[in-house]
Amino acid sequence: MTDKATNKDIKPKNSIAYYDDVNHNYEDFWVGREYEHRAELIALDKLLEGRHYEVAMDYGGGYGRISSAILAHADRLILVDPSTKQLDIAKKFLKDYHNVEYIRVDEKDRIPAEADSLDLLVMVRVSHHLPDPGPTIAEIHRSLKPGGNAIIEIANEAHFVNRMRYLRHLQAVPKQPVPIGKNANGITDNTPFVNHNPKTIERLFSQYGLKPISKLSVSNLRHPYIKEHLSVSRMLAIEKFFQGKLSVFDFGPSIFYLLGKAD
Ligand SMILES: C[S@@+](CC[C@H](N)C(=O)[O-])C[C@H]1O[C@@H](n2cnc3c(N)ncnc32)[C@H](O)[C@@H]1O
Repeated sequence: MTDKATNKDIKPKNSIAYYDDVNHNYEDFWVGREYEHRAELIALDKLLEGRHYEVAMDYGGGYGRISSAILAHADRLILVDPSTKQLDIAKKFLKDYHNVEYIRVDEKDRIPAEADSLDLLVMVRVSHHLPDPGPTIAEIHRSLKPGGNAIIEIANEAHFVNRMRYLRHLQAVPKQPVPIGKNANGITDNTPFVNHNPKTIERLFSQYGLKPISKLSVSNLRHPYIKEHLSVSRMLAIEKFFQGKLSVFDFGPSIFYLLGKAD
């Protein structure tokens, strides 16, 4: 029996542990993506500036890529992920932090936290695995303390380049999540991949009681031509300046929201 067969055999029905795929190394995805990685850290720093929390959760935190940026603003972090493989890597990646708890979930739309218990929940690069994000947003609202915050990143179908494509075909950007293929990012398992319309997501925030406090447009210069012709440091300087300004137009491929749960 091959490793892959063994891995598949032990997966429970309806597993969301896509990142346990033996053919996929999520860390490798970040090779050559220093600009995107640092653009996201800039966004987190901007949104968290001057804020400090007792208990924070990195939901769908993977191997902990952004956890240290959250830990700079929190006393304690709970890293949640459905993938055992990602959690094992995270334990090594974050070995110098002694205030991190690791929780594996394998149930869709469930945040493993008591109601009203988290001061901050961060969910980055998970929305593209959520073809129906409403229940997760409702769970985020349930888990947050009154007055707590969430940072939610969405994969933006309405980014500038896409909008021009839709316009050329005289079409509007769909309101519903748009599937972008099952094998994106090199994952060969049956992983759902979708992009979202920010307007629809903003309606869901409002429906489930999360109030936008600020919004950033991120990875605005993610284009092969620009990446070839500008240094990473120059791209990041431009990125830093424009993240807030371009958010008004939902310009970039990734939109970060800082949200609050009403007291
Ligand atoms: C692209 S990675 C992002 C990891 C980390 N947030 C980051 O930005 O580097 C997506 C992560 O979400 C997890 N995931 C996928 N579907 C999920 C779901 N429905 N709920 C929670 N996490 C999920 C995966 O196991 C994976 O570790």
